[in-house]
Amino acid sequence: MMIIWTLCLIFFLSDSTLVFASPAKHLCRPDQKDALWKFKSEFYVEGFHSDGTPVNKKTERWRNNTDCCSWDGVSCDPKKGVVVKLDLEDSFLNGPLRSNSSLFRLQHLRSLNLDNNTNLYGDLPDSISNLKYLRVLSLARCNLFGKIPSSLGNLSHLTNLGLSGNGFTGELPDSMGNLNRLRELRLDNNKLGGNFPLPLLNLTELTFIYLGSNRFQGMLPSNMSSLSKLVSFHIEKNSFHGSVPSSLFMIPSISELAMGSNDFSGTLEIGNISSPSTLIALSLPENNFKGPIPDSISKLVGLFYLDLALWNTEKATVDFSVFLPLTSLIFLDLSYINTRSMFDLSLFSSFMLLGYLDLSGNNLKISEPLSLPLPIGTLALSSCKIVEFPKFLQNQTILLYLDLSRNQIEGQVPEWLWSLPELRYVNISQNSFSGFEGSADVIQRSQMLLLDISSNEFHDPFPLLPNTTKFFLGSNNRFSGKIPRETCGLVSLESLVLSNNNFNGSIPRCFEHLSTSLSVLHLRNNSLSGVFPEESISAPLRSLDVGGNKLSGKLPKSLINCTSLEFLNLEDNNFNDTFPHWLRFLPNLQILVLRYNEFHGPISSPGGSLSFPKLRIFDISENRFTGVLPSDYFAGWGAMSSVLDIVDRMPSRFEGRDSGNYRNSVSMTAKGLTMELVGSGFTIYKTIDVSGNRFQGDIPESIGLLKELIVLNMSNNAFTGHILLSLANLSNLQSLDLSQNRLSGRIPPELGKLTFLAWMNFSYNNLEGPIPQGTQIQSQNISSFAENPGLCGAPLKETCGKKEEEATEQEQDEEKEEEEGQAFSWIAAAIAYVPGVICGLTIGHILFSCKPYWFVRIFHSFT
Ligand SMILES: *[C@@H]1O[C@H](CO)[C@@H](O)[C@H](O)[C@H]1NC(C)=O
Ligand SMILES: *[C@@H]1O[C@H](CO)[C@@H](O)[C@H](O)[C@H]1NC(C)=O
Ligand SMILES: *[C@@H]1O[C@H](CO)[C@@H](O)[C@H](O)[C@H]1NC(C)=O
Ligand SMILES: *[C@@H]1O[C@H](CO)[C@@H](O)[C@H](O)[C@H]1NC(C)=O
Ligand SMILES: *[C@@H]1O[C@H](CO)[C@@H](O)[C@H](O)[C@H]1NC(C)=O
Ligand SMILES: *[C@@H]1O[C@H](CO)[C@@H](O)[C@H](O)[C@H]1NC(C)=O
Ligand SMILES: *[C@@H]1O[C@H](CO)[C@@H](O)[C@H](O)[C@H]1NC(C)=O
Ligand SMILES: *[C@@H]1O[C@H](CO)[C@@H](O)[C@H](O)[C@H]1NC(C)=O
Ligand SMILES: *[C@@H]1O[C@H](CO)[C@@H](O)[C@H](O)[C@H]1NC(C)=O
Ligand SMILES: *[C@@H]1O[C@H](CO)[C@@H](O)[C@H](O)[C@H]1NC(C)=O
Ligand SMILES: *[C@@H]1O[C@H](CO)[C@@H](O)[C@H](O)[C@H]1NC(C)=O
Repeated sequence: MMIIWTLCLIFFLSDSTLVFASPAKHLCRPDQKDALWKFKSEFYVEGFHSDGTPVNKKTERWRNNTDCCSWDGVSCDPKKGVVVKLDLEDSFLNGPLRSNSSLFRLQHLRSLNLDNNTNLYGDLPDSISNLKYLRVLSLARCNLFGKIPSSLGNLSHLTNLGLSGNGFTGELPDSMGNLNRLRELRLDNNKLGGNFPLPLLNLTELTFIYLGSNRFQGMLPSNMSSLSKLVSFHIEKNSFHGSVPSSLFMIPSISELAMGSNDFSGTLEIGNISSPSTLIALSLPENNFKGPIPDSISKLVGLFYLDLALWNTEKATVDFSVFLPLTSLIFLDLSYINTRSMFDLSLFSSFMLLGYLDLSGNNLKISEPLSLPLPIGTLALSSCKIVEFPKFLQNQTILLYLDLSRNQIEGQVPEWLWSLPELRYVNISQNSFSGFEGSADVIQRSQMLLLDISSNEFHDPFPLLPNTTKFFLGSNNRFSGKIPRETCGLVSLESLVLSNNNFNGSIPRCFEHLSTSLSVLHLRNNSLSGVFPEESISAPLRSLDVGGNKLSGKLPKSLINCTSLEFLNLEDNNFNDTFPHWLRFLPNLQILVLRYNEFHGPISSPGGSLSFPKLRIFDISENRFTGVLPSDYFAGWGAMSSVLDIVDRMPSRFEGRDSGNYRNSVSMTAKGLTMELVGSGFTIYKTIDVSGNRFQGDIPESIGLLKELIVLNMSNNAFTGHILLSLANLSNLQSLDLSQNRLSGRIPPELGKLTFLAWMNFSYNNLEGPIPQGTQIQSQNISSFAENPGLCGAPLKETCGKKEEEATEQEQDEEKEEEEGQAFSWIAAAIAYVPGVICGLTIGHILFSCKPYWFVRIFHSFT
């Protein structure tokens, strides 16, 4: 155990520590103080905790009349009075980092840390090279973008460079090859691209390379042995292909290789490693490896972490003996390896330290007694065709996490399960369970944190849960009656998912007792009725779905306090209210679905234009909205007008492991079909659907700003005027429905250039003139143009007269000029919104993000 602890410590010993004398009286040089003071004043410093109280900011405690060397976050050289270290991590510096920033006058800086100032934005200026003595430069989780400047290569003393979690794009500058003292390079979670940066191979001092979650591609260089001091090499979540170079395994110091979620293939050549391998973590899941698991893995005897999930053995048998020498394994993931071998759990008896075992998606030898002859913390046996609840679990006294989802187990969940002393997470979803064995309070006596029983055949009585429950997922079962009041006593509850049952009655008022914890509430597709009580809304809500019920009355105004709300789905109820303008105060709202209700009145805001900076799905179809949409209506809708995408939190396999596998879902009409979008599938969709209302007037010009829009449906209203040329800006559009309006004029030929626009409908309008010639337009069904008395040309049967064609061209030129003039102001408006849009995207560390947690637990269990 000691060995493992020591190895773990290695990961946490990173930053080289600089030691400074404590500051004497007023030793700060005036120019240094001036530069610091000006730097502070370049930003708007503000931030709040989730409960609304302002955070403690370091710069706020700086005082102009005190020694700047004593200021929070500032360290000086005691002799010269110059600032050598500035640590303003987490300091809420909001604003752009400019190239003339006073920061770059602090020329003696040896260490600069501005990590996690998430609203510090802009390019990383060339002038960074003014700070020529820098050893440590850390700007992780800010909002910097653009290319990494080549002037960085002039920082010849640099040992640690951390730019993780920004929006940097492009390739690394070749000048990085000059940073020959660099030991740690952290560039993960950006949008960097190109091939593996070869200049890095010259940096022989490198010990840590983190390039994960970027857009790198190509093959790795075959000879990487020049990186002779490399310890950790993380390049997961990119698009690298080719084989994993055996030279990596030959590096004498190498201990961690994280290369999952790429496109690596071939056989794994581990080469002729003579002395025992130093490698302790090998993570290769979600690649394109095919064929048998290589024997050479058995050489990696020091491994404690091995993840080969989704290695495609192509139905081969797995020679289990290759794993037997790996006696230090703590974590083993062999899920979904497409083998025809049956896993006999007794094979694992030699791994005395094993704490995490995932064999999901494989066949298990079910010959009773199925048993695992060692205690384990996490056991995942999802999709293993298990038909009977495994009895050996009774003896698993340290089991913390159990996943038996997607099997074929029927009958009752055994009573003894709930008395396993360490068990906190249970996922038995997608089986055919019908009930719980034992007395009504059998689960209540456990200390469950997560219980996922969704997609089974559970029926009443609804189980009594312990008040430790944080996540309860019970959708797709046969529960009925009122939502049990006992739920309101679950004071720790964060997710409550009861969709697709037969609950009736109203939403309990007593949900107010959950108002400090509940962040996911899904009651979709039940038969709930009545008004949504104001007090049932809890402030931390992130996701609220009550679609498919019979709720009526007004939308609870208390939603305005849910500043974290991302997902709001009220579709298919009887809500009778005016448009909730106040939702614009919810800065994180991404999905707003009001379709099929009785909402009415205008949607334009009395107090200026709406701005939904993060909104991606806006569906208010099939209501009774009226009025004219102002032409700047869509001007502040940043997420739909820029490529900024949504941060995915975890790799799919681990999605929801420790918070429950609930999925947001919405119905959506696109390409003339209604479909259900579920889970991560719809994070790519950016849609606007205002169909089936009573809108009048012109289509707002600002729609042309929403360049990322994929579906636009404005059908079945009373829109008048022409089809805007600016629609041709929507270069990602796949589905466009303008049918059943009163649009007149011609179909702009420019629409034919929208190469992704696979489906469009212009029927039932007053359009006229020839149908444009573009392939996409011409491939539409005739019905897409039906009932427009003046339209002519293919694919319609009506041919066009000559006069009409000439007139078209002239008119279009005029239209174009007119629209270009207008477009300018919308572009200005869009630019003005950009900072607001980029703000607040946080990007977490992904690779081992959910795993260390389990480790800690497992260690505790052993000691
Ligand atoms: C702080 O001091 C600087 C010079 O060090 C001066 O320029 C600035 O005006 C002072 N600001 C305040 C608020 O006193
Ligand atoms: C820095 O440049 C910006 C324009 O890029 C200018 O507005 C600002 O006044 C300059 N600041 C200083 C301190 O020179
Ligand atoms: C970054 O700052 C946010 C507050 O803005 C805080 O919640 C978060 O924990 C910080 N992240 C890290 C990794 O320090
Ligand atoms: C980097 O240093 C070289 C000379 O050492 C100089 O020519 C170049 O201008 C510097 N680049 C930057 C961006 O400072
Ligand atoms: C490494 O440095 C040498 C000279 O020091 C240079 O010739 C070579 O091109 C560099 N290699 C890369 C890949 O940058
Ligand atoms: C790989 O590079 C190292 C030095 O960088 C060299 O000594 C070694 O011979 C090379 N190996 C191969 C197989 O090219
Ligand atoms: C592997 O290395 C050992 C010495 O370290 C040597 O004796 C052996 O021949 C090598 N095997 C191969 C296949 O190169
Ligand atoms: C549990 O362990 C005991 C002894 O350690 C054994 O007798 C019993 O059969 C085990 N039960 C199961 C279900 O494996
Ligand atoms: C949870 O329930 C237990 C008894 O079941 C009780 O002792 C405890 O006080 C409750 N905790 C809270 C926070 O209500
Ligand atoms: C929002 O919360 C505040 C304080 O918790 C409360 O006073 C206010 O009434 C709430 N607003 C609404 C609309 O419920
Ligand atoms: C909506 O509520 C108003 C009163 O607020 C009422 O006049 C109207 O009939 C209601 N509409 C529907 C469809 O129930």
